[in-house]
Amino acid sequence: MAQQQEDKLKKIIAHAKEYGFIFPSSEIYDGLSAVYDYGQNGVELKNNVKEYWWKSMVYLNENIVGIDSAIFMHPRVWKASGHVDAFNDPLIDNKDSKRRYRADQLIEDYMARIEEKILKEVAKGRRKFGDDFDEEKFLNTNPNVLRHKKKLEEVHSRYVRAMNDNDLKELYNIIIDYGIADPETGSKNWTEVRQFNLMFETQFGSVAEGANKVYLRPETAQGIFVNFLNVMKTGRMRVPFGIAQIGKAFRNEIVARQFVFRMREFEQMEMQFFVRPGTEMEWFDYWKQFRLLWHKNMGFGEELYRIHEHEKLAHYANAAVDIEFRFPMGFKELEGIHSRTDFDLSQHEKYSGKKLQYFDPELDKSYVPYVVETSIGLDRTVLAILSASYREEDVSDKGQTETRVVLSIPPALAPVKAAIFPLVRRDNLPDVARKIHKMLHTRFNVAYEEKDSIGKRYRRQDAIGTPYSITVDYQTLEDNTVTVRDRDTMEQQRVPIDRLPQMIEERVSMAKFLEQLDV
Ligand code: GAP
Repeated sequence: MAQQQEDKLKKIIAHAKEYGFIFPSSEIYDGLSAVYDYGQNGVELKNNVKEYWWKSMVYLNENIVGIDSAIFMHPRVWKASGHVDAFNDPLIDNKDSKRRYRADQLIEDYMARIEEKILKEVAKGRRKFGDDFDEEKFLNTNPNVLRHKKKLEEVHSRYVRAMNDNDLKELYNIIIDYGIADPETGSKNWTEVRQFNLMFETQFGSVAEGANKVYLRPETAQGIFVNFLNVMKTGRMRVPFGIAQIGKAFRNEIVARQFVFRMREFEQMEMQFFVRPGTEMEWFDYWKQFRLLWHKNMGFGEELYRIHEHEKLAHYANAAVDIEFRFPMGFKELEGIHSRTDFDLSQHEKYSGKKLQYFDPELDKSYVPYVVETSIGLDRTVLAILSASYREEDVSDKGQTETRVVLSIPPALAPVKAAIFPLVRRDNLPDVARKIHKMLHTRFNVAYEEKDSIGKRYRRQDAIGTPYSITVDYQTLEDNTVTVRDRDTMEQQRVPIDRLPQMIEERVSMAKFLEQLDV
């Protein structure tokens, strides 16, 4: 990761901790690798993202309903889904450093470094030739670029083949042939590549009763598949219809770095859309567009998102794309849209012996529906919001240098909607401020603060992303108006107290935020 990007991620991590968004788990015991806790502001932000997702999927779509299935499932579920046999990552250990890596990631990082070299050559060429620079010609003729491109193509084609064939020996050979070193120590003394299953196991029931191996679910999707019949029958659902769910998932990630991007315990928001076979590509395109709109609606800028087509399809998919987001560490997967065919339902039919079919009255026949899935990580979405909304602004005034840190979180998602301050802690101002707090707290998450100067209180709320700060001052006692300061413009206006609920609602309304999707 380039230094600048690393610094940005470090800043976000420090900010998230300092302002009560995200803490390392069990921190007083030095933390637990890749497990995090959400603090007082983090949980509000997370709950608001869940509400945004849930309402956009379940409320805006007449034919989608939600469920909440258990984390523990019958062990045969994971045999049927393919996770017991195929939910693996290729693992490699360095014999000198004793560090463990994912072989695929080492190779991908190596290819990214070659790409960087090509970009550097282009930058050099541009500097040398100035206005006369012809990038396309340069890319096709410059000997250094051609050498890098050739190598990249070679590695890439060997890599794709090895991944598609699950050829661990070839992954090892690529690492050796190209001299790929341990990124931390430079050592090239590697073990063989082995498969590593990512599912956590535990025992069900006491050992005396006869222990039974169960798994912590690695995705929420299977809870939806096993409830397909229940929901279809009780909800009188007709294809095409969807089932949505938000819940925890667990993966024993080999390399878990980059904060809440890759965790061992995380939350997913998944929706399975059951369709008539043969129509899945239409729905795949539909959901791809809708989900992209959902992301862009947050207003961080279209350039932060891109679509990545999968080169290696998961064992269940016939088409798959990722919506990638420009995190501080570069473009990375935020959400997956997968056309899962009838793989899961057919497998569950086979393993459970139950018919998981839909009778289509228009076709006058039964079939196992095809499935298009949208699957987004909640924690990654929180990280995307924190990193896209984090700004350091120069607010120097009259020779005094000052920077403010502000989180320009979309108001509908902001953890605290308004903060109420008495200007001073006397002359009845706190009482009036508390009354305003009481008037607002049944509708919004509002904060009350009376410590420190008003300036410091503003800064604290900016750092949390609170859209409005409301100050009760001496004029309030005379005319029942307060000062309302806007987080983004820092402008202040006087507003009658009784207009506050409506004013805040207009700015933070989830309904309005959703209306922008309801096209
Ligand atoms: N049901 C399909 C499925 O689980 P996935 O691409 O493995 O697909 C979906 O996961 C999403 O879950 C990812 O796009 C990502 O946002 C999130 N996710 C996956 N592994 C994660 C991890 N270890 N930590 C945080 N989020 C993760």
